[in-house]
Amino acid sequence: MEQTFIMIKPDGVQRGLVGEIIGRFEKKGFALKGLKLLTVDQAFAEKHYADLSAKPFFNGLVEYIISGPVVAMVWEGKNVVTTGRKIIGATNPAESAPGTIRGDFAIDIGRNVIHGSDAVESAKKEIGLWFPEGVANWSSSLHPWIYE
Ligand code: GTP
Ligand code: MG
Repeated sequence: MEQTFIMIKPDGVQRGLVGEIIGRFEKKGFALKGLKLLTVDQAFAEKHYADLSAKPFFNGLVEYIISGPVVAMVWEGKNVVTTGRKIIGATNPAESAPGTIRGDFAIDIGRNVIHGSDAVESAKKEIGLWFPEGVANWSSSLHPWIYE
C-alpha cells in the first residue's frame, strides 16, 4: 500500500505538538510504519530539500530544520500522500484552512510545523533517505474496519 514521509519540524517538537499530530494521522485510519526522533545536520537537511536549493529562503529553511530534533515518520494507507498533504494544509499557514495542522497550529511559512511528501515518487525517495534501515512490516487488525 502507498506510503508517505511525514516529519514534525523542530518547532512542532518544541511546541509539544507531537502527540496531537500523530493522533490526527492515527485517527484518520493511517498506519504508522516508521517513527524516530533525531537531529539532522546541514548536509542531510540540504539533501532533503535539494529541490529548493535555488530558492532565496533555502539557507534559512536548512537552519530551521537543523535547529532541534525532528520526528521522522512513515505513514501508510490508501492515497496517504495526497490525503496527508490535505491533513497538513497549505504551505503558508496564512492560507491553510482551519482544521488542518498548519491552519490550526502555525502562523508563519518559515515555522509551519510539519513536512509531508508531495508525490508518491518523492515519498519513496524521502523514505529511503530518512529510513535507510527500512520500516516496520506489520498490518493493523483494524484493516477490515477501515477499508471496504
Ligand atoms: P514541506 O512539506 O515542508 O516540503 O512544505 P511544502 O511542500 O508545503 O512546501 P515546499 O516544499 O514548497 O517548501 C518547503 C518548506 O520551505 C515549506 O514548508 C516552508 O517551511 C519553506 N518555505 C516555502 N516557501 C517559503 C517562503 O516563501 N519563505 C520561507 N521563509 N519559507 C518557505
Ligand atoms: Mg515540499
